[in-house]
Amino acid sequence: MRPEDKLVIALPKGRILEEAMPLVRAAGIEPEPAFDDPKSRLLRFATNHPHIDIIRVRSFDVATFVAFGAAHLGIAGNDVLMEFDYPEIYAPLDLGIGKCRLSVAEPDDVAAGDDPRRWSHVRIATKYPEVTRRHFAARGVQAECVKLNGAMELAPSLGLCSRIVDLVSSGATLVANGLKEVEVIAEVTSRLIVNRAALKTRSDEMTGWIENFRKACQA
Ligand code: PRP
Repeated sequence: MRPEDKLVIALPKGRILEEAMPLVRAAGIEPEPAFDDPKSRLLRFATNHPHIDIIRVRSFDVATFVAFGAAHLGIAGNDVLMEFDYPEIYAPLDLGIGKCRLSVAEPDDVAAGDDPRRWSHVRIATKYPEVTRRHFAARGVQAECVKLNGAMELAPSLGLCSRIVDLVSSGATLVANGLKEVEVIAEVTSRLIVNRAALKTRSDEMTGWIENFRKACQA
């Protein structure tokens, strides 16, 4: 098989990967040993299926690789899907992993006398400027977003922005940084995503893998 004919599955680095791998394996896909070797610098891995490779990229980049057809399948949170809103991506299956929420938070002392429903303009540090702007615009609030790629929780104490929009899971990061969750924008889970064009051109193969993941979720 030519390398360009391979089916490519994009998986997110980090926390979600630990929850995703049991499902990937239950779906019948086993990556080569280098995948689990922290010293390996490989980014693309062979699997037990000669025609399937796995790539491991940042969670936001999973959506981009799949949207452009560079990967055919992937695992991405609806936070990422909402931010990009790529029409080329179809998300047929909620995998029920990576559960968290996308929330607005602010310093405890600010939250004490604050009502988000009264805001007319806010400055927000976030990795999700599009979702944040859309969320606030829907109720007539202008959100001025400062894009950060991580450690949003630092922004209020350093005077960058008094509010943040970020993922909250246990809430421990907010507490540790003196912040309070004041509004939930969306509940988040990870989804199996596919490239729509690939779903048409490689229909049998793609629907077969969607089914395998569906069964793996139910098991
Ligand atoms: C996420 C998120 C928060 C934290 C929330 O970051 O951005 O900082 O987890 O989790 P908690 O509510 O359980 O404390 P992550 O550790 O995934 O790293 P990142 O900043 O690189 O996204």
